Parts: sequence; C-alpha cells; structure tokens
Amino acid sequence: MSKTYRVAILGATGAVGTELLELLESRNFPISELILLASERSAGRTLTFKGENIPVQAVSDRAFENVDLVLASAGGSTSKKWAPIAVEKGAVVIDNSSAFRMNPEVPLVVPEVNPQAAANHQGIIANPNCTTILMTVAIWPLHQVKPIQRIVAATYQSASGAGAKAMEEVKTQASAILQGQEPIAEVLPYPLAFNLFPHNTPINDLGYCEEEMKMVNETRKIFDTQQIRITATCVRVPVLRAHSESINLEFETPFNPDTAREILSRSPGVKLVEDWRANHFPMPIEATGKDEVLVGRIRQDISHPCGLELWLCGDQIRKGAALNAVQIAELLVEKNLLKSAAAYVAQ
Ligand code: A2P
Repeated sequence: MSKTYRVAILGATGAVGTELLELLESRNFPISELILLASERSAGRTLTFKGENIPVQAVSDRAFENVDLVLASAGGSTSKKWAPIAVEKGAVVIDNSSAFRMNPEVPLVVPEVNPQAAANHQGIIANPNCTTILMTVAIWPLHQVKPIQRIVAATYQSASGAGAKAMEEVKTQASAILQGQEPIAEVLPYPLAFNLFPHNTPINDLGYCEEEMKMVNETRKIFDTQQIRITATCVRVPVLRAHSESINLEFETPFNPDTAREILSRSPGVKLVEDWRANHFPMPIEATGKDEVLVGRIRQDISHPCGLELWLCGDQIRKGAALNAVQIAELLVEKNLLKSAAAYVAQ
C-alpha cells in the first residue's frame, strides 16, 4: 500500500511551473490528482501530464479544497495571498518565492544541506533563492570538513530567473539585433541580448541589491549560522537558463584543493567538471537540463593562504527552483511529514 496525494501547482504555466510538471512525472511523484493553477489569463489552457490533458484553472479559494500539497511558483505577492489560504485548508505549501524565506517559523530547505529543517514546518516550507541553492549545494560539503569563515561570490545569472517571458524577450532581442534593429526591453529593465547588467532588484542603503542580500541572509539561515561573512555581486547575463557563480572561500587554515576536489567528487547533487588540459570547466550550456550543480576550477587563492577558489554552473529552473522543491516534497513523503487526505491505493 502506498499513499498518493492531491497536488496543486500554483503558477503552472510559468518557467518553473512547467518544469515542476515534468519533474513530478519523470520522478513518478505519488499523485492521485494534479490541479494546475495560474492567473485568469491562463484559464482554459491545458497542459499535459502523463499523457493526459489537464485544464489550467484560475486560482481561487475553492481550488485548494482537499489539496495535500501545493508547489507555488507564481511570484511573492501571489504566494503571500494564497499560501495562508491553502494552509488553512490543510495543505502543505512549498513556496518558491521570497515571501516567507526569512520568516523564522518557515524552514528554508536545501535537501542536500539541511533536510532536518523540513520537520519543523507549520504548513509552509520555503524554497531558497536559486543562486543560493546552487552555491550551498557546492560549498556545504567543504563547510562540514572545515568551517567557512568568509564567502566572496560573483554571479552570472540567466534570463530564466526573471521567468518565461524574460527568456522569450532575450531571444527576440537577439534576433532583432542580428537583423540590425533596436532591441526592445519590456520584461527586463534593459536589453540583455549581447549585454549584461547588475541584477535588477531594489538596492539597499549599503548599495547591495535584494538578490545579493538573499545570498547573504539565506545562506546563513540554511547553514544555521550567523558567523559566516558573505558578500556577493549579482549580474544578469544573456544566457537562457543556467546560472554560473565564481566563489571565493576563506577558511581558518588552508584547504588543500585536491582534498576539496576529492570531497566534492562524492558529494550529493554535485558533479565535478574539470579538464585542466582542455580548459574544460562548467558551462551553462552543459548545466542546462542537468540535476547536478557542476563544479570546477578548484584552486588555491594565490592572494590568501587560507583561500580557495571555485566555479560552478547549475540549471536555475531545475536545481535552482523546481527540482529543489520536488526534492523537498519527496523528503516530506519519505519522512511521513505530509498529511494525505487522498485515498490509499494498492501499489
Ligand atoms: P499566467 O501564465 O496565467 O500569467 P514566470 O515566472 O515564468 O513568469 O511564471 C509565473 C507564473 O505565475 C505563471 O504561471 C503565471 O500565470 C502565474 N501568475 C502570475 N501572477 C499570478 C496571479 N496573480 N495569480 C495566479 N497566478 C499568477
């Protein structure tokens, strides 16, 4: 006998929503009924799940009746409005937005790092920011061996972080430029094709944008320590769906790069990609569609005896968002942390 669950995807038509649909199918998540929710604009559309056409409904109170699990990826304000309603109706919500991440009552979970945190949920579990997920998967195994003192990160973030419409916009801009026309920016603040710009989130009094502060605050929450000093510079680049990050780590004593390599070669969710002779290291096109965070260029920082450099790429839509959320859902099922109103069915 195995339990099955009534699962809703809020934001089903978006970049992350469609990936969630694919992952729930390919990973054979135990679903008795799938409910697809989006805005009124999408009502009437259908999406395919396991060969079946499922209608997309406009989100409403009624849509969450008897739902066991909601995977939400429809933006912060939509989550703020609908997550409490879904919880009140008995569902557990795994939320991909930033709405609840820093709420002390809401666990912020990367299954390879802090799966134990999920057990304390009170209805909502937050899926961390994409750059933070990718970075924490890669550096947690090193932090376990020798606590990291300081992190200096620079990110090269793809258009997918701004949603499906931003990805389309970059393609349209590229083709306009190739035809000698002016690129038009409507979703993103500036043309991204053949360009890059510092991350387009609001900037605080210290000059850090929201995305950078997410890396700082969320990493500390996931690692359950306020001791790590973190600084980041986040940049959008004209890549479609995989983020890259240059990470400088500082330890109390030197960290041998070969030891780091050996540790990361057997760490969950990490794939070492290093061919020094061919100068072949992680690239966004090779990370696209992959579950693992690709890590390489591990080397001693020549400017600091206790510094270590590494480079990573990870699929922003997959491990940076949808896959992490589905892994959290799988964790809930495995640990029996998900109530099921659904019927028990024979295997
Ligand atoms: P819709 O397609 O109907 O606009 P992305 O991150 O790729 O831009 O996707 C955002 C997702 O969130 C889409 O599925 C979008 O639905 C959904 N969404 C956006 N605003 C709302 C809203 N106010 N209520 C429900 N769903 C929303």
